[in-house]
Amino acid sequence: MKGKYNKHIFICINERGENSQRMDCASCGGKEIRLEFVKLINQYGLKGKVRANKSGCLDVCELGAAVVIYPENIWYVKVKVKDVKEIFERSILKDEVIKRLVADKNSWSELEKARKRL
Ligand code: FES
Repeated sequence: MKGKYNKHIFICINERGENSQRMDCASCGGKEIRLEFVKLINQYGLKGKVRANKSGCLDVCELGAAVVIYPENIWYVKVKVKDVKEIFERSILKDEVIKRLVADKNSWSELEKARKRL
């Protein structure tokens, strides 16, 4: 079975508000990151084939901004706007995984430690 899109990108844009103690991806550039993906999708004529969706919290807030790519199930964390072009050109266009951004066991352990400090 094939899905509607070749690549489906979820970008967390969750916003907790300034009174929250917890981090959120909006304050890490989530909204700008999504707009950059949308710009590149249009620029490469991939509208309808690649989709950049706003996402609510992906539950990795302390590692924001978070970007997930399906169907590969690639989780990129600590993403900055300046990383988007590389993600697009390598992971969307060439199916490559960017090692310095992809979440691994160290990321999950860092997340666990950060959560314990809360
Ligand atoms: S706020 Fe983005 S993962 Fe939770």
